Amino acid sequence: MPSTAKTVPDGIHTMWPIITEDDKKQVMESLESRILTGPYGPQLRGAETEFAQWVGAKHCLMTNSGTAALHMAVEAAQVGPGDEVILPSFTFLATALAVLHNNAVPVFVDIDPDTFNIDPSKIKAKITPRTKAVIAVHLHGLCADIDPIKEICARHNLLLIEDAAQAHGATYKGRKAGTLGDMAIFSVQASKNLPCGEGGFFVTSNDALADRANKMRLFGQDASFEDEKLINLNWPIDRFRGFESIMGGWQYLPGELPAALTRSQLRALDAHNENARRNGRFLTEQLKDVPGLIPPRIPADRETVYHKFRLRLDPAAAGVDAPPAVFRDKVLAALQAEGVECCLWETKPLPLQKYFAEQTGYGRGCPYNCAHRSEPAPKPQPEDYANAKSLLDSSLVLGSHSYPIIAQSIEVMEYYVKAIKKVFSGVKNLF
Ligand SMILES: Cc1ncc(COP(=O)(O)O)c(C=O)c1O
Repeated sequence: MPSTAKTVPDGIHTMWPIITEDDKKQVMESLESRILTGPYGPQLRGAETEFAQWVGAKHCLMTNSGTAALHMAVEAAQVGPGDEVILPSFTFLATALAVLHNNAVPVFVDIDPDTFNIDPSKIKAKITPRTKAVIAVHLHGLCADIDPIKEICARHNLLLIEDAAQAHGATYKGRKAGTLGDMAIFSVQASKNLPCGEGGFFVTSNDALADRANKMRLFGQDASFEDEKLINLNWPIDRFRGFESIMGGWQYLPGELPAALTRSQLRALDAHNENARRNGRFLTEQLKDVPGLIPPRIPADRETVYHKFRLRLDPAAAGVDAPPAVFRDKVLAALQAEGVECCLWETKPLPLQKYFAEQTGYGRGCPYNCAHRSEPAPKPQPEDYANAKSLLDSSLVLGSHSYPIIAQSIEVMEYYVKAIKKVFSGVKNLF
């Protein structure tokens, strides 16, 4: 009789994030200070200084989400109504929403099937006189192929924004994500390699872009980096504001408690990334020869931080005649039944999702067919996003948001390999 017991035992996973005494101490210190907010709060400024140093950027502004930081970057780039911003067809929807928030049109480009990131060779065809910027997303912790993208941006006078929401610590030719474009953003939402609950960072080494983003972060008021000198921490939320509205803005400042937690988590980030890398490398090595499985391919000039470990599936190589999405769903269910934490993350390319496919925007034609455009933006065509669609139909993510591989021991990874090999040795019987 074959055993029906789960391969991965209950109770061996570690939940993410990992909270230590150092985290508790830092948050308690913040709480006891009774300073809960303010653009020059000590925890906020500490987090910004330490993150800027860790990334290697001149300016850093912490925000209450990665999406907010992206919107600040789009605004700092002075992207306006009817303008266009190029981004990959496979990313989290926040990347495209940030463009719409400035009444601009997100223009999607297909991905490289090996790296899952924007295909630089397909960018040029999407550039128009309205294009103002490119957002390169470093998806799942692997940097996009930045050099050719930079070259295109330089040639067409476009700003380059890095969406490094998933890529704290990733490198490209030895340089860190966050230092590769004109501006970059990170997310510190709870599932990220640097988790604090909800929050983000905007970073740049360009003074003018930082100044604009800084004003945007707090209602578009006349905020200046020099204002910090006016602050007396006995009056932490007084004295600093110009009270003059000089541009559009929002409220994108985080509180002191999330900033405090981010500081202590930042001290643990390199070690956490190393654990993710060890687990990612182990899974790759162990699974690369299993027919029907394709682990992520990491180009030699990049180091990933495996924010997500996306495993591609090839039904034909596994000896199964089934549509890729059907095969994926069966494999996902079988792995979950074995106790493997795994999930789907995004199931359709963004341009094929309702809001972007129908170009709803803000209604009344805005921004796709607004008064600022002489002609409507072209509708996304499914054949333009074939690589993204094929990837999403035929892959799953090992690890879940609550139990990602960054948090797990090597023992858990060994159980995963055993479970995956067991499922694939009898994969034909699933159909
Ligand atoms: C690629 C990407 N960009 C942007 C964001 C937005 O970050 P946040 O959730 O902090 O707003 C995320 C969050 O998952 C993301 O994965």
